Parts: sequence; structure tokens; C-alpha cells
Amino acid sequence: MAKSRPLPTTGALTGIFETLSFFSDPSFARRRFERLGNVFETSMLGQSMVFIQGDQAIADLLSQPEAVEGWWPESVRQLLGSHSLANLNGAAHKARRRVVAQLFTSLALQRYVPGIINLIDELAQELKAAQSPVSLAERMRRFAFSVITTTVLGLEGNDREKLFSDFEVWTKALFSIPISLPGSPFAKALKARKRLLEKLQKILNQPVNGKGGLDLLAGGLDEAGIPFADEDLGEQLLLLLFAGYETTASSLTCLMRELLLNPQIETWLREELDTLDWPPTPKQATMIYDPSKAPRLDALVKEVMRFTPPVGGFFRRTKQSLVLDGILVPNNRVVQVALIASNRNGIGDLDIFRPQRHLENDCSLNLIPFGGGERVCLGKALAELEIRLMVVGLFRKLRLEALPEQDFSLRQLPSPSPRDGLLVKLKT
Ligand code: HEM
Repeated sequence: MAKSRPLPTTGALTGIFETLSFFSDPSFARRRFERLGNVFETSMLGQSMVFIQGDQAIADLLSQPEAVEGWWPESVRQLLGSHSLANLNGAAHKARRRVVAQLFTSLALQRYVPGIINLIDELAQELKAAQSPVSLAERMRRFAFSVITTTVLGLEGNDREKLFSDFEVWTKALFSIPISLPGSPFAKALKARKRLLEKLQKILNQPVNGKGGLDLLAGGLDEAGIPFADEDLGEQLLLLLFAGYETTASSLTCLMRELLLNPQIETWLREELDTLDWPPTPKQATMIYDPSKAPRLDALVKEVMRFTPPVGGFFRRTKQSLVLDGILVPNNRVVQVALIASNRNGIGDLDIFRPQRHLENDCSLNLIPFGGGERVCLGKALAELEIRLMVVGLFRKLRLEALPEQDFSLRQLPSPSPRDGLLVKLKT
């Protein structure tokens, strides 16, 4: 093993203060990194946690998959369920990933394109007809939810609405104290989870209706060639709702917020948008807005993911001691890759939103908003597609302005979103 230094620590014991600071102070990790270096340990509610930032520490972590396993906080673990691939490791994780990945191949994405374009057209119509200000954050949540439920799962309006209300209850408790006291958010979320799974089960039991992509799962087999049980598949679908909804909605809302607050960036982007085709054919859609054809759009999306990453950090647990950026991290430690702090750590104007930086020759930023290694986000291509289609479709059709009297600051959890919902109206 390479020569290493001991792990710096904040010295926290109970972790109560650390936990409160983590939830209330957006620069929690950054201040500790400045004091203790790129790898340090603290305690969060009795759980020891190692925070890491920077290319070297992250590359060291992701290049040693045999030394780590996936980890989520107890509340997430219980609400996702024991079959969920997010909670599994090794062969069980790989087998389920292979099945679920069938929903996100390039052919599957092509199938979803017309549905996504319809949702964007409907939203543009609604915004044009609106008599009063509209919350763009709320519309982006609905959109991201509909993409998964309608285009991926193939649900009709009524079934979708029923799922939405339970889902909102379930999401609220994902990062909460996992004690099921009667009436607590966690207890309500456990009940909502049960109802959600029953509904997802029904969907899986229905004959394939040709809508959505569920027929692509029909060949889902485990290592021994035996189809997964419905209960198992139901938990994978629940994971897709969790993983793909809040995250995509957040990146879309933060992107719109930056364009509305920085008209010069909107003007710069529009010069390129005016040259792009809309609507694209399904086949075109997956490549027409790629970096070579739409470099400014690509730079804008990268900058949103850098500046306001939808997932602020992701986790691993060490199965043996390992060295990260020269620091020895012992066995059985939870490691959090701190993306928010990492993305702004370095030389230059990294505290400013400036998409143009990604088009400069000397840009050496190494961004991993979708995680990395064996657990890299399964919905990355779908999220990238949704975001690009929404920006081109919406901005080609209309011009929006934000109401000046509102709080544009971001609440950070579960994903960044403007506190007043980003109220907009058509530009006159
Ligand atoms: C902008 C949107 C999104 C972002 C930033 C994002 C980010 C992430 C991150 C950071 C992880 C953890 C990766 C790791 O541990 O290395 C993850 C995992 C995952 N994501 Fe996403 N995600 C997004 C959208 C989606 C969508 C749309 C879906 C599917 C509908 C999805 C499905 C998943 C799944 C299933 C996992 C678990 C993978 C595993 O444990 O093997 N994500 N995502």
C-alpha cells in the first residue's frame, strides 16, 4: 500500500451539531475541507462519515470498486426496500442493473422522444395561455414525473395522478429520521410506499399496452435465467421514480433560473438555439443536440450540473482500508463524495455561473454529476435528453420573464430549487 497519512477529523463525537450544521449551512463541507484538507472524517448522528473532494481522492475511490460497496442513509434504505438495486451489491446489484438498463438504451430513448415532445408542447401552450404567473419549479416537477410515469411506465392520466400524491408523501421522508412514530413523516411515507408498490404491482400485472417501455423488461432474468419476481421489479420501478424525478426537475429549474437572472447568457444561447431543428425526429433527437452540434447548450447544461449539482453527494462504504489522495481511510467507513464543494474547489472564478468556461481550451474541470464506476447513474442519457429537449423546445416557442418580487435563493435539499418556485410570465 502507498505511503499514507492518518485521517484528519473534526473531533465531533455525538455528531448532533455536525448534523444540524450539515442541513442548515450550504458551505458545511467547504469550510471543513479548507481547514482539514481534501479528505476528513466527522460524525453525523453517531455515524462516522468521511467527506472527500477533488479529482485525486474521487479517482482513487472509483478505481477500487472491490474495496467499497454502495451505501444509503437508513431512511432511504428502508423506503426503497431490500430488493432495490440501490441497496444491493455484487452479483445481485449487477443482475438488476442489467435488467433496468434495458429501459435506457438508445433505442428505448428514441421510443420516448414523441411523448417528451408532447409534454413540452403542452407546457408551452399552458404558459402562453396563463392569465397569472406560473411556478416553473412546479411545472418542471410535473414534467419530470410525467416523463417517467407516462413515457417510461406507460401510465394514463388518472393512474398517474394517483401515483403523484402518494409519491410526494413518500419523497418528503426520504432523508428523515427513520423512526416510525404514529403520524410522523416517516410513518406516513412507509404507508405511502405500500400503496405505491401495490399500484406498481398492478401495472406490472397488466398486459403490455404498447405504451412506455415496460415490455422491454419482459426478458428480465436473474443470473440463473429465472425471471425476477414482480415484487422485486416493483421496487426497481420505485427507485426510478426516486432517482429520476427530483434530480431532473432540479436541474431544469436551476437552468431556467440562471437564464432568467442572466439575460446576456440567454441571448448568447439563443444565437445557437435558432440554428437547431425543432421538433427533432426520434432518431435525430438522441444526437442532434450533442456537444459537436450544440456546444453552447452543452456548456450550459455542464455549468448547471457544476454550479448546482442535483445530487450534492453520493456514498460508498469501505470494505477494507484504502488510500484516498494520500490519506488512509480505515475499513467500514461511509465515504461521501462531496460534489457541491468539489465543483467549486480550484483556481479561478468557480463561484460564478459562467457556461462559457466549458468551451475554453484550458478548461480542466472533471465533473461527475451522475456519479461514477459500477454505480454510475442508470438514467443519465434520459436526463440529458429531457433537459436538452426542454430547453430547445420551450425557448424556441416563447420568451419568459421572472417576476422580480420573489425569493430566488435556493433551498438545497433534497435537490436545489428556488424558494418561491420561480414564478414567471410571458415577456411582453
Ligand atoms: C439530472 C438528473 C440526474 C442526476 C444528476 C443523477 C445523479 C445520480 C447519481 C449521482 C447517482 C449515484 C451514482 C453513484 O453512486 O456513483 C445516481 C444513481 C442512479 N440514478 Fe440518477 N441522476 C439523474 C437522473 C436519473 C434518471 C432520470 C433516472 C431514471 C429514470 C436515474 C436513475 C438512477 C438509478 C437507477 C441510480 C442507481 C444506480 C446504482 O446504484 O447502480 N437517474 N444518479
